Amino acid sequence: MRGGDRSRFASERVSGFTESVIREMTRLALRHGAVNLAQGFPDFPAPTEVKEAARRAIAADINQYAITWGSKHLRDAIAAKYKRTYGVELDPEREITVCCGSTEGMMASLLAVTNPGDEIIIFQPYYENYGPDAKLCGAARRFVSLHPPGWRFDPDELRAAFTSKTKAIILNSPNNPTGKVFTSEELAMVASHCREHDCLAITDEIYEHILYDGAQHIPLMTLDGMRERTLLVNSMSKTWSVTGWRVGWVIAPPDITGSVRKVHDFLTVGAAAPLQEAGAVALSLPEEYYIQLAESYRGRRDRLITILRECGFTLYPPRGAYYIMASVERSGFNDDVAYVRHLIETARVAAVPGSSFFESKTDGTALIRFCFCKKYETLDLAGERLRRSLLS
Ligand SMILES: Cc1ncc(COP(=O)(O)O)c(C=O)c1O
Repeated sequence: MRGGDRSRFASERVSGFTESVIREMTRLALRHGAVNLAQGFPDFPAPTEVKEAARRAIAADINQYAITWGSKHLRDAIAAKYKRTYGVELDPEREITVCCGSTEGMMASLLAVTNPGDEIIIFQPYYENYGPDAKLCGAARRFVSLHPPGWRFDPDELRAAFTSKTKAIILNSPNNPTGKVFTSEELAMVASHCREHDCLAITDEIYEHILYDGAQHIPLMTLDGMRERTLLVNSMSKTWSVTGWRVGWVIAPPDITGSVRKVHDFLTVGAAAPLQEAGAVALSLPEEYYIQLAESYRGRRDRLITILRECGFTLYPPRGAYYIMASVERSGFNDDVAYVRHLIETARVAAVPGSSFFESKTDGTALIRFCFCKKYETLDLAGERLRRSLLS
């Protein structure tokens, strides 16, 4: 291989990226045999009936490309599910695109609707993918802060974030990392700005069924005048504990769906065909499934809250999703990344540094995020280790 400056082989698009801190912490956790409460994937089995459906689909030789925007069975099941749960009528032929997880759904949506120079509004702290997603589109980002303890936003700051260049606002509720569930009043505010500024909302609703303490999920799409300006992104990953299957979907009005499908087709062609068939079974499970899912996560949340409080953390208990934000102000560290490294190396428990959810790495340094999508025995092992390390 000839020497020379190889940096010219890195596109400008990627050279601005830093590696995902969450994945880096996961690698460090593996090296130290740490309990991984960093990356949000369940360590317990997926529902038996869903796994059996996937096995049946492979045995039945559903092994070739599905229709690029999704198998008819899955799109019909998605339409039936949204009708049942939210009373939303969807046309599976013109309003649903199945893609490779909501990660692709978000990327395909942004690529489909933005031009370089457009502005995207993002609530902060935010799920780390939204940063690179917007950058890949050449879109500028404007941030609106969510403030602890209730993670509310300042209505004036939200209003000021909308400009003549705003193309879309990204709204993730229930929210990762804060556990915030946006209220109907907050959603109404967002909707009213979208209508007034004639812009879109891209909603990440991947935790829609993981809700606590009576919190209710309201899809922004169901608010007045929002159906025609909302792209709803969701996936099987969290609701059916299959983060590795990579099956998600985007729901959008027909004209926007047309654009999303074009991007999706050239990006990935389609999600795994047999897993889409299993998706159709998953989305047809009875209501009881979702009730049990939320109840099982409530138990895990309460267990981890008890453990972390015993260990002296100040917490912001979540109303949805499966993460807990903890303040580390009393830890003696003033650097969240150093503190998480210390936890991994000494307590052998991994978390995510708070700053990875902020644009400026000097923000969020007093916070760390734990996830609790784990078996009770995993949470208890983390508890034993944290107590031994922090209380002795
Ligand atoms: C808010 C949010 N959106 C999207 C994803 C990724 O979802 P998927 O597995 O469907 O790509 C995650 C995963 O942690 C998430 O927390």
